[in-house]
Amino acid sequence: MAKHCFLVLMFMLLLHYFMSCKLATSKATFASDKSALLAFKSSMNLHTHELLANNWSCSSSFCNWIGVTCDVLHGRVKALNLSNMGLVGNVPPELGNLSFLAKLDLRNNRFYGELPIELH
Ligand SMILES: *[C@@H]1O[C@H](CO)[C@@H](O)[C@H](O)[C@H]1NC(C)=O
Ligand SMILES: *[C@@H]1O[C@H](CO)[C@@H](O)[C@H](O)[C@H]1NC(C)=O
Ligand SMILES: *[C@@H]1O[C@H](CO)[C@@H](O)[C@H](O)[C@H]1NC(C)=O
Repeated sequence: MAKHCFLVLMFMLLLHYFMSCKLATSKATFASDKSALLAFKSSMNLHTHELLANNWSCSSSFCNWIGVTCDVLHGRVKALNLSNMGLVGNVPPELGNLSFLAKLDLRNNRFYGELPIELH
C-alpha cells in the first residue's frame, strides 16, 4: 500500500513537472527563449548526443544549459555557442524569437536549412 502511494506521488510530481515546463513556454519573451531553444533541441538529431539531450532539460534554467549565455539583466539568451559538438539537424524558425541573441556560433556541426531572417 505504501509503495502504491509512493508511485502515485511520483506520478503527480512528474505530471506537475511536465505541466509547469509546458506552461512556462506559453508566456512571451523570457519563456519564448526557452521554447525557441526547445524547438532547436527537438530539430536536432540527438540520438548520438546524450550530453545535450540530458543537459538541455527543463529541470534547470536554460541559462545553465551548455552553450547558452544569458544577458544577466534580462535573463534572455544573448549568445549561443554549440560549435564543435558534432550536432546534426536543422535550424528552426523559432530561433528568430531569441530577440536578444547577439552571437551565434554553430561551427563544425552539420546544420542545414536557412537562418531565420531575424538573425541575418
Ligand atoms: C549542464 O551543463 C552545465 C555546464 O557544464 C552545468 O553547469 C549544468 O549543471 C548542467 N545541467 C544539467 C541539468 O545537467
Ligand atoms: C565558441 O566556443 C568555442 C570553444 O569554446 C570558441 O573557440 C569560440 O571562439 C566560441 N565562439 C564565440 C562566438 O564566442
Ligand atoms: C516563435 O517563432 C515561431 C516561428 O517563427 C512562431 O510560430 C511563434 O509564435 C513564435 N513565438 C513564440 C512565443 O514562440
